[in-house]
Amino acid sequence: MRLAKRIENLPPYLFVEITKKIAEKKARGEEVISFAIGDPDMPTPPHIIKRLCQAAQDPANHRYPETAGLPELRQAIARWYQKRFDVTFDPDKEVVPLIGAKEGIAHLALCFIDPGDIALVPDPGYPVYAVGTLLMNGKPYYLPLTEENDFLPDLDSIPENILKEAKLLWLNYPNNPTGAVADLDFFNRVVEFARRYDLAVCHDGPYTEVAFDGYQPVSFMQADGAREVGIEFHSFSKTYNMTGWRIGMAVGNATMIDALTRVKSNLDSGIPQAIQLAAIEALDGPQDVIQEHNAVYQRRRDLVVDMLNSIGLETKPSKASLYLWVKVQKGYNSIDFAAELLDQVGVVVTPGIGYGQSGEGYIRLSLTISDAGLVKGLSRLAGWRDSRNKFKVKVT
Ligand SMILES: Cc1ncc(COP(=O)(O)O)c(C=O)c1O
Repeated sequence: MRLAKRIENLPPYLFVEITKKIAEKKARGEEVISFAIGDPDMPTPPHIIKRLCQAAQDPANHRYPETAGLPELRQAIARWYQKRFDVTFDPDKEVVPLIGAKEGIAHLALCFIDPGDIALVPDPGYPVYAVGTLLMNGKPYYLPLTEENDFLPDLDSIPENILKEAKLLWLNYPNNPTGAVADLDFFNRVVEFARRYDLAVCHDGPYTEVAFDGYQPVSFMQADGAREVGIEFHSFSKTYNMTGWRIGMAVGNATMIDALTRVKSNLDSGIPQAIQLAAIEALDGPQDVIQEHNAVYQRRRDLVVDMLNSIGLETKPSKASLYLWVKVQKGYNSIDFAAELLDQVGVVVTPGIGYGQSGEGYIRLSLTISDAGLVKGLSRLAGWRDSRNKFKVKVT
């Protein structure tokens, strides 16, 4: 059997050791507390589930859906963007529903990347931007996101020869994993930059509705001329606790939306129709659930930040997203640090290197952990501080 080179080119799964250790601990009956995954612990709101159940009973929804999605869903997505961001989209040409944003992100590479083509990819970043490029035998060029630059890419530092060859620019704000946000000035500069170098911009914005302290993230599509150069991926996953239902959307540039829809129509058969109808209910139904979820995350964020700072781990409260980006203790790399937390106190965090080289020196904590788990996890971390001081484990 000879697998394709593109499979060999995929980056190694960096969490393999940690995953193995979690399994060992669980097999020994030890309880592991995980801050690792950005999967909302709160359930999908009941009115959305009610609509899903109703729709599932209707035989009209038992058949193949269309790739382009129900016109009613595309219209609801356009209405939501209008209401939330004051941006108007043509539901027939500038909107496509996705089987989760992840599916669209991966498939977009098929629309742009020929072998050897370059995609500009944030580092650290959601791994699928680079993986989609690699699967098409393209070349990711990594844009470091550093604290000094507020975790925004320094576009002016990209060499001209790279820019001449690059076709895609991936961005994601509010950001996974750093929790950083971008403002409209930045997005306006991105549009100018994309025009200058003929880049297609893919902004990934699944966290625009997860925000704290009254902060309201902007959409890339609000930037002047954004629809001439790019699209935005969005999702029902984090806004409405719908990760398990697998539904998202892309909006913006009609040529890009058309290309993505054409690829998808050859590869998948759309989103189950009952789920599309539940998604319409999510967009059109009561939105106060979002504030309720955010209040919970904000309270958790404050608890975690206070505790981490009190044990000497540096982190700032994120304005948005589900994540805290935390500097590891000096003398550790992110994998060793995460492994030690797991070994000593059974707490799982994600090593920053898993999101790219520039993620080294950090770990990511997700706020999607039940209140009970959070309290237990934090008290274990406090205990870890004590034992670490006592035994002087690798403290430099
Ligand atoms: C930045 C980012 N984009 C996309 C996704 C995937 O979203 P979906 O559940 O809609 O596929 C995630 C999920 O964690 C994410 O963090």
